[in-house]
Amino acid sequence: MIHGAPTLQLQTVSAQQTLEVGTGLGKSLVGGLVIALVGALGAGKTQFVKGMAIGNGACDARCVTSPTFTLINEYAGRLTLFHLDAYRLSGPVELFSLGFDELMAPDSAVVVEWADRVAGAIPAERLQVHIEAVGASVRGLSFWAYGSAAESCLGALCNR
Ligand SMILES: Nc1ncnc2c1ncn2[C@@H]1O[C@H](COP(=O)(O)OP(=O)(O)OP(=O)(O)O)[C@@H](O)[C@H]1O
Ligand SMILES: [Mg+2]
Repeated sequence: MIHGAPTLQLQTVSAQQTLEVGTGLGKSLVGGLVIALVGALGAGKTQFVKGMAIGNGACDARCVTSPTFTLINEYAGRLTLFHLDAYRLSGPVELFSLGFDELMAPDSAVVVEWADRVAGAIPAERLQVHIEAVGASVRGLSFWAYGSAAESCLGALCNR
C-alpha cells in the first residue's frame, strides 16, 4: 500500500536517462532491500533494472533480460541482485512458492517488476518505485522510501 507523498520525483527524457537513474540506485543499494517496481507495459521497468545491475557492478546491460518467463534472474555484483517479474504470477502465494523469502538476505537486493500484482508478499519496509509514461520518451519516476534501509539507499542516490 502506498501512503504519503513520494520521497523523490524525477523525470527522464530518454531510455538512457532512466538507465542512468537506475545505475545511481544500483550503486546505492543496501543489503536486504526490496525494490517494488510498478508501471504499465513498456513503462521502462526493465530499462531501470538494467541500470541497477550496472550500478551494482560486474554486469553490463546485455546481461539483463526481462524475467517474464524465467521469473527470476540473478546478477552478481557488489550485492547479488535478484530480478523478478510478477506479470505472469497469480499472486503472492506463487511468489512465495518461488522462494521469494530466501532471496531476501543481507548480501542481496531484490527488485520485483509488476510488484502491484503481488503486493501482499512485498514487505512493508521497501523502496517503492513507480514509472509512468508521460510522453513518447518522457517518463515520470516516483520513489517512496519505507524503512531505514530504503531511506539510506534513496539518500545515497540523491547525493550522487
Ligand atoms: N524515458 C524513458 N525511460 C525508459 N524507457 C523509455 C524511455 N523513453 C522511451 N523508452 C522506451 O520504452 C521501452 C521500455 O521498455 P521496458 O522493457 O524497460 O519496459 P517495462 O516496463 O519493463 O515493460 P514490461 O511491462 O513489458 O516488462 C523501451 O523500448 C525504451 O526504449
Ligand atoms: Mg519489463
